[in-house]
Amino acid sequence: MLDLKGLIAGERDLSTLAEKHINPAFVRVLRLLGYDKEYVRGQGAYLYDAAGQRYLDCLSGYATFACGRNHPVIRDCLRQALDLDLPNLITMGVARLSGLLARELIAVAPGELDTVFFTNSGSEGVETALKYARAATGKSRIIHCDRSFHGLTLGALSVNGNAEFKEGFGTLLPSVTTVPYNDLEALERELSRGDVAGFIVEPIQGEGVYLPDNDFLPEALELCRKRGVVFIADEVQTGLGRTGRMFACEHWRVEPDILITAKALSGGYVPVGAVLAKRWIHEKVFSSLDRCVVHSSTFSENDMAMAAGLATLHVLRSEKLVENAAMLGERLQSGLREAGRKHEMFREVRGKGLMLGIEFGPPQGRLLKVGWNLLHKLNPSLFCQVMLVPLLNEHHVLAQVAGYHLDVIKLLPTLVITQADVDHLVIALDQVMAAAHQFPGPVWDIGRRIARSATRLGG
Ligand SMILES: Cc1ncc(COP(=O)(O)O)c(C=O)c1O
Repeated sequence: MLDLKGLIAGERDLSTLAEKHINPAFVRVLRLLGYDKEYVRGQGAYLYDAAGQRYLDCLSGYATFACGRNHPVIRDCLRQALDLDLPNLITMGVARLSGLLARELIAVAPGELDTVFFTNSGSEGVETALKYARAATGKSRIIHCDRSFHGLTLGALSVNGNAEFKEGFGTLLPSVTTVPYNDLEALERELSRGDVAGFIVEPIQGEGVYLPDNDFLPEALELCRKRGVVFIADEVQTGLGRTGRMFACEHWRVEPDILITAKALSGGYVPVGAVLAKRWIHEKVFSSLDRCVVHSSTFSENDMAMAAGLATLHVLRSEKLVENAAMLGERLQSGLREAGRKHEMFREVRGKGLMLGIEFGPPQGRLLKVGWNLLHKLNPSLFCQVMLVPLLNEHHVLAQVAGYHLDVIKLLPTLVITQADVDHLVIALDQVMAAAHQFPGPVWDIGRRIARSATRLGG
């Protein structure tokens, strides 16, 4: 037997291994930010360090832990799957669990999505959707929005609206056009050229947490319909309850042609994504017996992934987590708005359900302005980060900046959080915002220290 517990216990410094073999630069950044904590356990909405300190996880593995960490029902379902000695990945045979999960996903999806392709990640879902749109229309061009994030594989990166992710990777997919998010005129102009296969969009953008104008998604869908363009909703992050609806498209009554989901479907255990598509699209891709595996992936219908997906949907339903996200999301937004009003640099809190962004902007006061300018000159991503350090170390809340060079803090807690967690989060953020309004002061010192160390380390 392999003694995994012993293996972990016998290794004095696991992060040194990560630094040596996985990603030295990332480990250095964590250290620089004071984010190099040694978490030893995860349970529900929390992480725990070796000293037993509890942290409220407002990152949730980039929205993976919708049901919380190590959920007993999901774990039990995975154990059952293991004990059943299932005939996994027969490949030349009909998989059975995947049919069950497909049926459940179709039942909760908006509109007439009635075919499912399972993937190993969100990016693979995006690749699938781009290929489907091309096969369905016989055209090649894809339209996406500025600031969009659809993953980092080559096709997904090609429709990424953030230049910093693309730099250094050479020429990406041709026939890709960016339009500003919320700009229907620009979209219509591009669609009218007649060579567009698909329009891919996040109902709520993850980088920066930007919301669509109320008419953007419904009218974009209408424009796509008019031009025979496939409307692809990327719900890899927003899907499965995150925004207080099962899928974020529902907020705007939008029924996409293709819907991609992933992250939360894994239950936090087994990577899995799903691409839900209308039948006519599916039939264009798999258009003959010869083409029945023209798009496939070895681990696509892996039984453990299917079991994780089935258990996740069960937990979302039985614990009313979508409703919890809607209710506590409201409480969190209004609490933060109320707290924010007291602080000059607070601009707004936005989002839906438990996907929120808190935006800050330059102050009026002379002294604070000095601090703001100084910090932004040192590093344009630093201002929110300096608030997140005491948020982690003093209030034991783990969160992140919403993107590169943004003055936006992003909150993505698990959907199992409680009212008490929300109230703690509001008080904690109120206090770090207050501290950030004292210049000079300890929060600004953190910024200077981080910037100085980064320069020394050459990063
Ligand atoms: C909207 C969206 N699409 C696609 C992806 C890519 O998913 P993955 O990291 O599983 O490849 C992400 C990941 O953050 C995402 O937020």
